[in-house]
Amino acid sequence: MTKETRHLISMDDVDLAFIYLAFRIAKYYMGIIEGTASWLALGWYTFRRIVNCLPLAGKIIASVFYEPSTRTRFSFEAAAWLLGGMVIGTENAKEFSSAAKGETTKDSTKVTSGYVKAIVMRHFKEGSAKEARKVSRVPIINGGDGTGEHPTQTLLDLFTIWIKFGRIDGLTIAMIGDIKHGRTIHSLAKGLCLFENIRMIFVSSKQLAMEGDLRDYLQSHNANFEEYENLREAPLDDIDVFYVTRVQKERFPDQNEYELVKDHCIVSIGIVALIKKEAIIMHPLPRVNEIPEEIDDDPRAVYFDQARYGLYVRMAILDILLNHLF
Ligand code: NCD
Repeated sequence: MTKETRHLISMDDVDLAFIYLAFRIAKYYMGIIEGTASWLALGWYTFRRIVNCLPLAGKIIASVFYEPSTRTRFSFEAAAWLLGGMVIGTENAKEFSSAAKGETTKDSTKVTSGYVKAIVMRHFKEGSAKEARKVSRVPIINGGDGTGEHPTQTLLDLFTIWIKFGRIDGLTIAMIGDIKHGRTIHSLAKGLCLFENIRMIFVSSKQLAMEGDLRDYLQSHNANFEEYENLREAPLDDIDVFYVTRVQKERFPDQNEYELVKDHCIVSIGIVALIKKEAIIMHPLPRVNEIPEEIDDDPRAVYFDQARYGLYVRMAILDILLNHLF
């Protein structure tokens, strides 16, 4: 019997068992790569490398990006190589794939899925990963679909919180910036619904506030959430995690509209002075000006750790999906 193909399109595709399995595997790979693993674990990985039986040995993944990317693409590609796999793909599928000749993403996916064991895809159109899933012979991993979702980012965001606090349950998590267009926020808010006792705090300008779909989702999952228009109005003292995002310039048809809201939620030094000593400041990156560089040296600023952890979490995701560990 052939095993069922498992895709990762949305946070609705995972549950707590999947998440904690990914955490454990990611932590194991973190130990291997950062040299902190036990001798036994290191020895086992080295042995598997020597005899060419790493988890992705002989497997090719496709990395198909219709939108720019640094972290998602590089970390997925590095993850595949580190697991003994190989990568084909394009960083600009809009121009360098048959999309330029008018081929639909559906057709391209159908074809590509006959050559590889998984497709990591980033697309400018919301819902495109879901469409690709319908025609793909292999797992589709959504690396961001327009203003839709970005579930692998959420898994690494949750992993970062878990590493820094040792838990996720019971935390107060603020999501700041572009709630309307930010796919990382959409997935994170959905993912947080799986945990116990979470208080979500959304801070954005009125124009970039939460839209109906996400609101309905949170309400139907009985999430505890509040919305604020300004950081100074938010209960800064109560917040454990500040998840800051950039205003998504590329989603504005009118750049004047962008100019009006782009500086609304800046986590300034003055704001950081008001937050808890044990809080952490996260950002999926890239940042523009919403966190000044001066804050990077503050021990609470963990966004570069977060980006680094992306490699380990993506190793775990590839391992789980391609080897049917779940
Ligand atoms: C995010 C994205 O692409 O949605 N980047 C990322 O993958 N780390 C966030 C962003 O672009 O603002």
